[in-house]
Amino acid sequence: SISRLGPVRLPTAELHLHIEGTLEPELIFALALRNGITLPYRDVSALREKYKFTDLQSFLTLYYSNMAVLLTEQDFEDMTRAYLVRAGAAGVRHAEIFVDPQAHLIRGVSLETCINGVTRGLADSEARYGLTTSLIAAFLRDRAAGEALDVLEQLIAMDAPIIGIGLDSAEVGHPPSKFIAVFARAHDAGLKCVAHAGEEGGPEYIWEALDLLGVARIDHGIRAIEDEMLVERLLTEQIPLTVCPLSNVRLRTVDTLADHPLPGMLARGLNVSVHSDDPSYFGGYLDDNMAQLTSTFALDSSQLAELAANSVRSAFLPRERSGTLL
Ligand code: ADE
Ligand code: ZN
Repeated sequence: SISRLGPVRLPTAELHLHIEGTLEPELIFALALRNGITLPYRDVSALREKYKFTDLQSFLTLYYSNMAVLLTEQDFEDMTRAYLVRAGAAGVRHAEIFVDPQAHLIRGVSLETCINGVTRGLADSEARYGLTTSLIAAFLRDRAAGEALDVLEQLIAMDAPIIGIGLDSAEVGHPPSKFIAVFARAHDAGLKCVAHAGEEGGPEYIWEALDLLGVARIDHGIRAIEDEMLVERLLTEQIPLTVCPLSNVRLRTVDTLADHPLPGMLARGLNVSVHSDDPSYFGGYLDDNMAQLTSTFALDSSQLAELAANSVRSAFLPRERSGTLL
């Protein structure tokens, strides 16, 4: 039956997943031990106690702090494989995965260590874990645009195996307009472009991401519903919105899951799909997001089929591959 808990049964693509947001407390402690790092938490349960967020920034502070345990290629590979095992169990068939290179560069971890480690983890993902994958480098919008452009040039120069770029971190006060040059360069290099917008920021950030950055998808985008003209635009162009319900609840963007705008957005015909953002921090992977949504809103099989199909048609996949999943 539809309400049965377990892996998502419909072919689904994960399009909004930060690999550093999959670091589970147990792995954080294991990597700290391996690297001789002393964490500011007594044990796993003391760390879990910290997973009570009041807003995006309160989460980001812990998310960046826990990255201190990622030092070697092996660390990045182990983190990536741990996610892929879990995603395969959740029923994910394809994942487009964000990595935050600047978050590691500013700690003195090289671009090669980060990119090569994640890439090693992604190799053979279909044979080993049952899902195809691709990598998207996300830039930190609360840092200088010049730094992002510099990192993008390095990624291009090293021929990093990325399909595109994204824009994440603290949204309010860091509008898409700040990154026009970065996204122009990415388009020029043939990279796909996406951006977080309308998570904590208002609809104007979504307009800017579309009009000034030329993004093909909006990550989150839930605040679009505050602007009817924007809703019409998103409807007409069927712009994908990669929505992360458990993330929005945990970061207090919505009060409770029952208040989440997703069912209404789906009913209006918006191209919304469900994703997990930072699953180790927000209480669930893709299957958990789907299970909680399904029970909270009594989603029926046609709504579930629509969400799954939206995720596949919004993926950066060649038609041959998306056709096998639709
Ligand atoms: N980085 C990781 N998760 C994020 C989120 N939900 N919003 C913005 N930046 C992020
Ligand atoms: Zn995100």
